[in-house]
Amino acid sequence: MIVLGIESSCDETAAAIVNDKKEILGECVLTQLEHKTFGGVVPEIAARAHLEHIEDILEETFKKANITPSDIDAVAAAAGPGLIGGVVVGVMAAKSLALALNKPFIAINHLEGHALAARLTSSVKYPYLLLLVSGGHCQILIVKGVGEFERLGTTIDDAAGEAFDKVSKMLGLGYPGGPMIEKMAALGNEDRFVLPRPLHNSGDCNLSFSGLKTAVRKIIESYSPDNNIEHAILSKQDTADICASFQKAVTESLVYKLQKAIVIFRTKYPEGKDIVVSGGVAANTYLRNKLQKLAEIEGLVFSAPPIRFCTDNGVMIAWAGMERALKGMYNDLDFKPRPRWPLDIDAPKAAGAGGVKA
Ligand code: KG4
Ligand code: ZN
Repeated sequence: MIVLGIESSCDETAAAIVNDKKEILGECVLTQLEHKTFGGVVPEIAARAHLEHIEDILEETFKKANITPSDIDAVAAAAGPGLIGGVVVGVMAAKSLALALNKPFIAINHLEGHALAARLTSSVKYPYLLLLVSGGHCQILIVKGVGEFERLGTTIDDAAGEAFDKVSKMLGLGYPGGPMIEKMAALGNEDRFVLPRPLHNSGDCNLSFSGLKTAVRKIIESYSPDNNIEHAILSKQDTADICASFQKAVTESLVYKLQKAIVIFRTKYPEGKDIVVSGGVAANTYLRNKLQKLAEIEGLVFSAPPIRFCTDNGVMIAWAGMERALKGMYNDLDFKPRPRWPLDIDAPKAAGAGGVKA
């Protein structure tokens, strides 16, 4: 079986073709650079850019895979959550192809794309414990199967990636913040600044990053003659030390709550062996190393998608499409894209497949 996947929910226009032997036949990702000057993604600019590039990306993907559209068996697209203008572009392209080719259409929850990506590149088995950390989401989940998620914890305010992006902006390091902070942190002293570990004593698996961000702001303000962060005078070393201390605080918060989640996971699913991190922040090597250590201590197997498949890409959507296609989980062509779409609410299946319409 061969599945095409399309991703357009934020600032990457991407497509990929995978087969059921876990081979990536072709893939193409275009990261929109238009947003850099704004310090964040501008939804209308993103939607226009997706529209401009989607055809070329699809053509290029088929060219790389060296197959024709009629060779594929199903078309999947990220149908939410995300910036709706962009999501609509990818979904419309997928539906048009599905209609023209008379192949089934599959609506993928973008988060499910992140959640299942590690199963393409590693032998991760259900049920597994997942830390999903991206620019818009931060959740700890048990993944029981395709479309079967149990949420153990979530951020009560900012997502982890959002915190990286905001701190980067405060330090004038640019967007996206994660890679910039990681680079600077490698030069810094992670113990120089003492930062809080929000919700440390909450007793549950929930997370919070807003207080951490405010604590960083206060540190930067203290380097400004008038308490305005834009006037802060920071040496390169100061900036590196702030980045390292911040990266350590985020990582420790995540590791601490994951330890709690492991206890729950073990009690509920003693057969579960795998712990996975995915989403854009999973590209962070410092975090990956700490999670690897945690898994070793806990006797679990740690997996993460290769770094290039952590941030948004078409491969994860094509693979989630494959997992659904193998189970006959298709969607109707009138499926409505969803700007908000919690992972624990599954996409309705096609009426013919025994499900309900959206
Ligand atoms: O999954 P993703 O590409 O898009 C969303 O679905 O949100 O994640 C993007 C997020 C951004 O916030 C970015 O700063 C963060 O992932 N990110 C990182 C790293 N690379 C990307 N955060 C920390 N360290 C990184 N190396
Ligand atoms: Zn994402």
